[in-house]
Amino acid sequence: MRDRHTDEFDKRVDELKTKIKGLDQLKVRDDVFDEYTLLGLYKLLSKGWITAMGGPISTGKEANVYLADRNENLVAVKIYLTRTANFKKMQDYIAADRRFINIGKSRRDVIFAWTRKEFSNLKRAEDAGIPVPHPLIFDRNVLVMEYLGDEKGAFPQLRLAEFEDPQQTYDEILDYIRTLWKKAKLVHGDLSEYNILYGRGHPYLIDMGQAVTLDHPHAPGFLKRDLEQLNRFFHERCSTHEVSEILEELCGSSPR
Ligand SMILES: Nc1ncnc2c1ncn2[C@@H]1O[C@H](COP(=O)(O)OP(=O)(O)O)[C@@H](O)[C@H]1O
Ligand SMILES: [Mg+2]
Repeated sequence: MRDRHTDEFDKRVDELKTKIKGLDQLKVRDDVFDEYTLLGLYKLLSKGWITAMGGPISTGKEANVYLADRNENLVAVKIYLTRTANFKKMQDYIAADRRFINIGKSRRDVIFAWTRKEFSNLKRAEDAGIPVPHPLIFDRNVLVMEYLGDEKGAFPQLRLAEFEDPQQTYDEILDYIRTLWKKAKLVHGDLSEYNILYGRGHPYLIDMGQAVTLDHPHAPGFLKRDLEQLNRFFHERCSTHEVSEILEELCGSSPR
């Protein structure tokens, strides 16, 4: 049923759409850019964090990632999908995170907090010296970060990359996991050949929304799973360390 409110809402959404440069060319499903997303994008645009939206780099169930301009530079814009993201899982993970105890309970509250969480995790990892996309800013469900790529395009995911020296890459990633734990006091929690990009001869960790601090009940289990994922991918490519040894070194014991 249409009423005045709905009409005003549609008008406002249309106005926002025309104000966001590049958006009309995107041809994305309408539900990607709901009112909140448009507001977030518009705010980032008016503050100069984005100057024009470009095409999608990746589209998924939880989030879409777009290329965008920021003056002469390229940035990556990750937009969490307020309608299709796995809100229950997000709520479950975030509820036990002491950094986010006072967030609301609505789908929107949780997804906005999740966006803030990814921003803060990327920053923590970067401060500890781990190669991640530099986080620039976030608003609502929109996160703007450094674009990892070069003139040939976005850096490939590890699963598609041709690396020069698998042993060196494995050792580097293992070092990132150790530094994340010891210095950033974080566990990635969804490490795989999909969430590691490879460029300029080195791996980069991405997709850190689910990463948790060490006091989180999932932290040891996540660490174990991250290590198992890493070994699964590399065991036929180079020599790998026993998961139990690394767990012993970092946690002092092996979680179930
Ligand atoms: N900063 C970035 N620079 C270049 N490509 C990126 C960047 N962030 C994400 N991507 C690309 O988008 C894909 C999806 O991003 P990701 O953060 O893993 O979101 P999802 O939650 O959808 O898995 C990545 O696998 C990568 O190929
Ligand atoms: Mg991912």
